[in-house]
Amino acid sequence: MTSWWRTAVVYQVYVRSFLDGDGDGVGDLAGLTAGLDAVARLGVDAVWLTPVYRSPQVDHGYDVADHRDIDPLFGDLATFDRLVGAAHDRGLRVLMDLVPNHVSDQHPWFVAARAGGPERELFHIRSRPTGWQSMFGGPAWSPLPDGSWYLHLFAPEQPDLNWAHPVVQSDFADTLRFWLARGVDGFRVDVAGGLAKDPAYGEVRRGSLHHPHWDRPEVHDVYRSWRGVLGTAPAVAEAWGPPERTAEFARADELGQAFAFDVLHTPWSAAALQRTVDAQLAAHRAVGALPAWVAGNHDIARVATRLGPERALALHLFLLALPGAFYLYAGDELGLPDAQVPPETWQDPQSLRSGGRLPNRDGARVPLPWTSGPGVGFTTGEPWLPIPATWPQYARDRQESDPTSAWSVLQRALAARPWLWTSEDLTWQDARPGVLVGRRADALVVLNTSSRPWRLPVATEVVARSVPGAEPTIATPSECVWLRDRRVRSPT
Ligand code: GLC
Repeated sequence: MTSWWRTAVVYQVYVRSFLDGDGDGVGDLAGLTAGLDAVARLGVDAVWLTPVYRSPQVDHGYDVADHRDIDPLFGDLATFDRLVGAAHDRGLRVLMDLVPNHVSDQHPWFVAARAGGPERELFHIRSRPTGWQSMFGGPAWSPLPDGSWYLHLFAPEQPDLNWAHPVVQSDFADTLRFWLARGVDGFRVDVAGGLAKDPAYGEVRRGSLHHPHWDRPEVHDVYRSWRGVLGTAPAVAEAWGPPERTAEFARADELGQAFAFDVLHTPWSAAALQRTVDAQLAAHRAVGALPAWVAGNHDIARVATRLGPERALALHLFLLALPGAFYLYAGDELGLPDAQVPPETWQDPQSLRSGGRLPNRDGARVPLPWTSGPGVGFTTGEPWLPIPATWPQYARDRQESDPTSAWSVLQRALAARPWLWTSEDLTWQDARPGVLVGRRADALVVLNTSSRPWRLPVATEVVARSVPGAEPTIATPSECVWLRDRRVRSPT
């Protein structure tokens, strides 16, 4: 399957926080449409929208009450159609976030199931709970009025669907068709590894390869059934796990792509990063795919806070230079850190439900700064999460006019990136410990994770670098440099 998305750069828009078009303090589709020129100027290939379906917003849209309608908070189907048209006019593809593992407790199916209707079969309802735990803390089962228990791997307002039921299967196929017919170019599949549950509802056994609800072989039947509906459209799996397991979702007859999440847990070390990259490439190549690299998303602390701003930018250039696609989390192109969100304004069900025991995801979801003026241009109203006083220094307008900004560094790298695609191979060259040098045809990508400068090979020229204005013959500490090797003739 050779397609645009195999090597694409996809910009993840957390819609609530991108740009507010109607002044209610929450980002929306009109805002996103107005901001598309800025997205296009950065030079990405596609946008992925976090869920904008009808939803009570208990988990900010990941609790869907109607998969085939837009929540009034974000607009309506007409605003959505305008967004897709405006994106396509700018050469940007649109991916939607599909949430198949669970629905909102306000979804008509669950309302009917709660009332004792035959829709109960569409959920996991039992007379007794198991010991399974919710990802947001506490038990994964909650009682229904009749004393039975329903499963929710996330919040109680997110009951899990029974994917063994044909009605669930056919309804999701209809949802895929519905959005494809509206011009959507692909999907991100939420909790892709969770859909299949052990029919015997066995307990989680430590050390066992067989989990009662994660990454069971039956989930792959679901995705194989979707491929026929998707045609050549991509879908990217959100599935956490070892590379060889996640890569299975990327098989050509399934979703086609899976996030390479283990980069997020890899320490800042040349050797460790090389191991992660090698393992991901090998696992994906074994199924004829390439990884979807990722440095951040709306579920973890921002990369500039995890690594520090210089390393974060270097990691972006490094991942962008690897064979595969790259998913860029909106705000990371501005080098935004995780915001300190005061506990009294927390919104994330994960931290609210766990009493702060599990990480608070709000810090990575604070609205983006557009201008350095008051209110930072996100909204004319009160932003849904407080915007830190330091945000103006990261404003997009300021960064676009500063050639040394994080935005400008990424914009130049994205403009140069197509040159890398003369080859899908990557080989490592010998370098000093702490320095990684990868080769793709006439391109060399140098990552200096050490604290000492590294002299660049002779007969090369710098094409892009994460420390603009640095000495042309060295890679500074915590820098990534893309070089053209003048001794190698480009195959074009
Ligand atoms: C995914 C989403 C996350 C959400 C969860 C439940 O992990 O990325 O934001 O809370 O699924 O839908």
